[in-house]
Amino acid sequence: MHDSTTGNTPAKTIGDIVADDFRTAKVFESHGIDFCCGGKVTLAAICTEKGLDLAALTGELEAVKSEPAERGHNYTAWALPFLADYIVNTHHAYLHENSGQIAAYANKIAEVHGSHHPEVIRIATIFDKIAADMAAHLKEEEEVFFPAIKRTDAARIAGNTPDAQDRETIQASLLKLYREHEEIGDAVHTIRHLSKEYAIPDDVCNTFLLTYRKLKEFEDDLHKHVHLENNILFPKAAEL
Ligand SMILES: [Fe+2]
Ligand SMILES: [Fe+2]
Repeated sequence: MHDSTTGNTPAKTIGDIVADDFRTAKVFESHGIDFCCGGKVTLAAICTEKGLDLAALTGELEAVKSEPAERGHNYTAWALPFLADYIVNTHHAYLHENSGQIAAYANKIAEVHGSHHPEVIRIATIFDKIAADMAAHLKEEEEVFFPAIKRTDAARIAGNTPDAQDRETIQASLLKLYREHEEIGDAVHTIRHLSKEYAIPDDVCNTFLLTYRKLKEFEDDLHKHVHLENNILFPKAAEL
């Protein structure tokens, strides 16, 4: 059970802290701490790993949590089918709309600026793979995994025995989807590293600027999307 008010924060995982209150995500982002795929690590462990001051970081987390509460979304309280639909209608819709366009921009700047900025050639190649892998990943979630969790959840609520095939599908898909999140997340972090945190060189055109802005937006959207799945939706699906 998530506990947002009390409890021993150093022993909580990054994923649970963000699941309790999404406002803490920006604190972790500012320290380069991965809260989605890397969310299973405790706060104390990440401080040791990164050489951060635990008391200072806890203080920063408490500070954002004491800001006036946004009339935001309490994702952890949502029913599974609603959360799945929300993810599809926001994050999957974003990807369906933007992945192709970002890939086209990245390939364009690789062609125009690749001789002076060879990193953009690698970025375009990596992004093409991310877009292809992501398309297959979304298809599995939308056509196989989410329908199976919705049917299983409905059976549970109605007091019926869930379909055995659906339960098998859920178990098998979970492992695969977690692994794909990690692979796609690593690829996006490679792009961030190659682009020096999306820094715009002086000698480039507007398309370059736009591409880097979109790549940054893509990463931000992915962090939130993967967080909702890895830290909230998937653990609930595993309990079905
Ligand atoms: Fe998804
Ligand atoms: Fe996913």
